[in-house]
Order: sequence, then structure tokens, then C-alpha cells
Amino acid sequence: MIYPLPMAAPDTYLVGASDRRLARFENLFPIPRGVSYNSYLILDEQTVLLDTVDNAAAPDFFDRLECALDGRTLDYAIVHHMEPDHCAALADLVRRWPNVQLICTAKAKQMLGHFFCTGLDQQVRTVNEGETLCTGRHTLHFVTAPMVHWPEVMVSYDSFTKTLFSADAFGTFGALDGSIFADELDFEHVWLPDARRYYTNIVGKYGTPVQALLKKASALDIQTICPLHGPVWRKDLGWFIEKYDRWSRWQPEGTHAAVFYASMYGNTAAAAQLIAQQISARGVGPVPVHDISSTDISELTSEVMRCSHIVLACPTYNGSLYPKMRDLLSDLKELGAQGRTWALVENGSWAPNAARLMRAELESMKDMTVLEPVLTLHSTLQNPADAIALADAVAESMNP
Ligand code: FEO
Repeated sequence: MIYPLPMAAPDTYLVGASDRRLARFENLFPIPRGVSYNSYLILDEQTVLLDTVDNAAAPDFFDRLECALDGRTLDYAIVHHMEPDHCAALADLVRRWPNVQLICTAKAKQMLGHFFCTGLDQQVRTVNEGETLCTGRHTLHFVTAPMVHWPEVMVSYDSFTKTLFSADAFGTFGALDGSIFADELDFEHVWLPDARRYYTNIVGKYGTPVQALLKKASALDIQTICPLHGPVWRKDLGWFIEKYDRWSRWQPEGTHAAVFYASMYGNTAAAAQLIAQQISARGVGPVPVHDISSTDISELTSEVMRCSHIVLACPTYNGSLYPKMRDLLSDLKELGAQGRTWALVENGSWAPNAARLMRAELESMKDMTVLEPVLTLHSTLQNPADAIALADAVAESMNP
């Protein structure tokens, strides 16, 4: 099939593909808006492919790649990241263009040997920080980015087009729309929630490595960012880089509150609803309420990334935490969540214990503040003034 290819930068074509059929990314995170696996091709005196795609998108990818090459051979394939959503098609690529030279870090070469039993690692040129590849007009500068998101990761900077090929950094869930450029989409309203959820859950644990990459990137004159997932950035780069800077330091996006509740029979939910209304009534902006039983945990962790203040309301269950709350707190701890202010509501018909356990989990993380008073329900909220006092404490903390 021959069709026009979207251009990401001069001589640079998007040959990746979107997947709207996959239900869960990494078989874990729901992606109702799909996901794109971006692969780019530079057509210079020599031809360079930057990453491949997931197996699910391979037929579309190879169609586009052959169309773009238009009979030319493929000279180089750069492997920025060995996770199979970007390198699954490598073996097939080498079968089709057997003389292609693979370029990657030494760590990636080792992983190539582990992922593929076909001797792919034999046609690798390993590169170190600062090495370059000149293909004619374009020169690619290799910048290592270990743990953004795996240890073998590197990114490339094309000094001819001032384009950063950023691997998973600046990626987002979401299949690509008609345009591949963020400035032609309603990114802030349609894409930002998925970008935040992608960052929090895929890269969120690795804030320090992301900060290191941002520091290296700040020394480059970048006009275009080509990530491995989601749209290409060619305008307002600072707006998105600022989000990454905040997220990688676990800084909230502003003074925002949300209420998360678990509730078996609706009584804890009723208290949570009243608290959200009372906080909101104090003029601090919208206060979303999330039922943690029906909200995917990746949405909840992402909401913690956005907010400065979170109310947790939880029944005592088997003398411990309601399992969904236990899972959420455990996930937050693994992701390195820090620096948030919490208010706690526990429910227990005969032996309430959830607040003590939630506090212990939160205090095992960095820079977490638990407000007083803690609200204890014995089956139901008997005195609305107790909920109002908790709402007052949250609103006061938001507007000290
Ligand atoms: Fe998109 Fe870490 O792979």
C-alpha cells in the first residue's frame, strides 16, 4: 500500500502506528483511547530508522517503512529502548534489511541477546554518551538516559533539525488522531490526563533519572520533541517540559483537593460526599470524588500526582485496610509518591483501625503530612459537624 507519510521534522517521517484494539498497556493499564508506537525514519544520504513498534502494529509499520524507503535500503536502526513495545519488530526488520546496522547502548546490546535468539546482537554498534552518527546533512548525538524507563535507554538529538528523539520521555497514552502534532490537538483537555497517567505509572518511580535527562536536554537547542508514544511537540515545548519537571519532582500541579473513598454499603461514601461538598464550599475549586472500587488504580495514582490535598475514607476490613485502599497506598509507595497533605476518615462498626494503618503507610513515604482531626465513623456519620471540622482543616491547609 502506498500512502503519504506524516512528517515530524525535515526529512523525518513517522512510520510508527497506533493501536486501538489493545485493552491494557503492559497488560495492566486500561487504554480506552488506545496508544501509539512511534517509529521515525530519517531519509538522508543514508537512511536511519529510530525504533520499531509493538508486534501488534508490525504489519502497518512495515507497510509504511517500505513505502517511505521507496526501494532504498535501510542503513541504520537506532534502538533507544528495548521494551518490546518498541523493539518487538527488530528481528523481522533485520530479516528484511539484513545489512542494517543496529545502534544502541552496551546494556541494550546485552538485552538484545536476551530478547532475541537470532544473533541480532552480532550486528550492533554500541555507542556511549556524546558519540555521534553523521548520515549526510543530519548528525545524531547520543545521550544516555538510564532508568527513563529502563537501564539501557538513550535518546538522540539531531543537530540538523534540532529534534530530540526522546524515547519514553514526553510520551502519553492515546492513539494518534488526524494530526500528529500536539499544537493541532486539544492537548490540555483531551490528552493531558492520559499524559499524566502515563508519566505517573510508567515513569513516575524514576523522577531522579528524569531530572537528569531534563538537565542534559536543557543544554540543547530543541525545536521538536519526537517521543515514542503520542503526539510530536514543535510548539510550546516549555509548557510540557514544565509538567515533566513538576511530575519528576512529585510536585502537584497546583493547590487541588480530591476525595478517595472505599465503601461497602454506601455509608463511608455518604461521609466522603459531604466532606467534598464542604471543602468545595470553602472556595478552593472543584473537589473530585473517586470511588476507589470502580476507578482504575492508575487513574488514582495520577490524581495524587495532580493534587496537593487528598482525603482518604476507608472501612476497616478483616481488622485491616479495605483491599483496594491497601493496594493504592502500596502502589503510591512503590512509585515514590511524596510531599502531599492527607486527611483521613475511617469506618469500623466494632473495631475501627483503618486510620492508624493508613497513617502508618503514608508516614512510611517521604514528606507526607496527615491533618487533624481524623474522623472515625461507627457504621455511619452520626454528627455532620465532625465531617465539617475535617473539611475545615483541609480548606485551611489549602489556604493557610
Ligand atoms: Fe514505551 Fe518503556 O516503553
